[in-house]
This record gives sequence, structure tokens and C-alpha cells, in this order.
Amino acid sequence: MVEILPSILAADFARLGEQIASVERAGVSMLHIDVMDGHFVPNISLGPPVIRSIRSICRLTFDVHLMITDPDRYIATFVESGADQISVHQEVCPHLDRTLRLIKAEGALAGVVINPSTPVSTLDEVLELADYVLVMSVNPGFGAQRFIPRTMRKLMELDQRRRERGLSFKLEMDGGLGPDNVADVVRAGCDWVVAGSSIFQSDDPETTVKKMQQLAREATAIRA
Ligand code: DX5
Ligand code: ZN
Repeated sequence: MVEILPSILAADFARLGEQIASVERAGVSMLHIDVMDGHFVPNISLGPPVIRSIRSICRLTFDVHLMITDPDRYIATFVESGADQISVHQEVCPHLDRTLRLIKAEGALAGVVINPSTPVSTLDEVLELADYVLVMSVNPGFGAQRFIPRTMRKLMELDQRRRERGLSFKLEMDGGLGPDNVADVVRAGCDWVVAGSSIFQSDDPETTVKKMQQLAREATAIRA
């Protein structure tokens, strides 16, 4: 089943609990949490204390997207603070095999992320190990950017490799997604659709999520 993952980066942090409750009412099961360090990406967002706080008010699966250099140092802390799954960028992991094993050893699902300029082939040796692959459809660091259409073919490439090699990793996409393009990315093979500004900057986040879920369901039917 395709999931819509609201990205809290676009939420009003002064009303974070309320905003999360609004997407929970729409029936989401996963929440996307962006961690930025001001080094790997030119922005700083939030860290373990915020994750710990929201962990105490909701039971959704926390999908933590680490946009930080040297993620190995912080993986245990993020799991302890409430992350259920953690993704790391291929671009900052010289020992990607080790990093993915480390995430799993800590008891979380392990994901690997590629930037728009990073080819799918860089993941060939770790696809057996990854629980999910996140294809960035904008350059990471900021919400509300425009979707980069060229990244869509990477979903198709990864979907093809998944079938050919009999693997079951999930495909996630992040950046510039909303009601206008959710169907396209689902048809291209996306299982987990991340959306920040299109949900939290809309008049009614709950209704927007429901609309995206419906569009995703219809697109899945065509895909099958
Ligand atoms: C960007 C983040 C995204 C961001 C997406 O670096 O990884 O998760 O929240 O925001 P939108 O959906 O507004 O492009
Ligand atoms: Zn993200």
C-alpha cells in the first residue's frame, strides 16, 4: 500500500502537536522528520529533543531523514529518541554498508538517500541491505522547492532493479510533491510519498492528506 508521509519541516513548530494530530486524523501511519546540520545542507532544522517530545504524543512510525555529515555518530541517539527508521545520504557515507548495518543493529529500518545529482548505480552494492531507498526530487535543505522532473526516471530504474533482483526494499520520494504529481510518482514505483508544504501550508492539512491518499490509491490500481 502506498503511504503519504507528512514532513513536519513545513509545520508550524509552535503548534507541532496540533499539526501532527491533524494528519493523524487523516489516517497516515508514518511521519517524515528532517534533520539538518548546516554542513551537509545549508540549513539547520531539529534534533533528538524534538523527536523525543513528539514521540511521547503519537504512535506513528517516525521516518527520520538525516541530512548530516558523519551520521554514524548519532544513529544510536536517534533510535533512542524515537526513530523507527533512519535514512542516510549516500554522498556522506564512505562506508555505506557499515552504516546501514549499524542502523539495523540499533533496531531501526535502514534507508539510503540519493541527491538529484547522484546516480542510482552508486547503490548497486547495498540494495540487498537497504530496507528503503529515498530518491530526492529536490536538492535537500529546504521545503517548498520545485520538483525536479528528471528524478522520476530514478524511481523507474530502482523499481526495475528491485524486480530483476527479487528485492523488497521500499521506494520513497521527497521534495516538491503534492496533489498535482502524487499519481505520477506512484505510477513510477514510489511506495512512500513525502510531502511538506503541500500539506502543512494548505488550508486544511487533513483534507489535503486524504486527497493525496485517494489519488495514490487510484494510481496504484493502474500500476498493478
Ligand atoms: C528537503 C526535505 C523535505 C522537505 C520537503 O530537504 O528533505 O523532506 O520537507 O518539503 P516539500 O514537500 O515542501 O518540498
Ligand atoms: Zn526529507
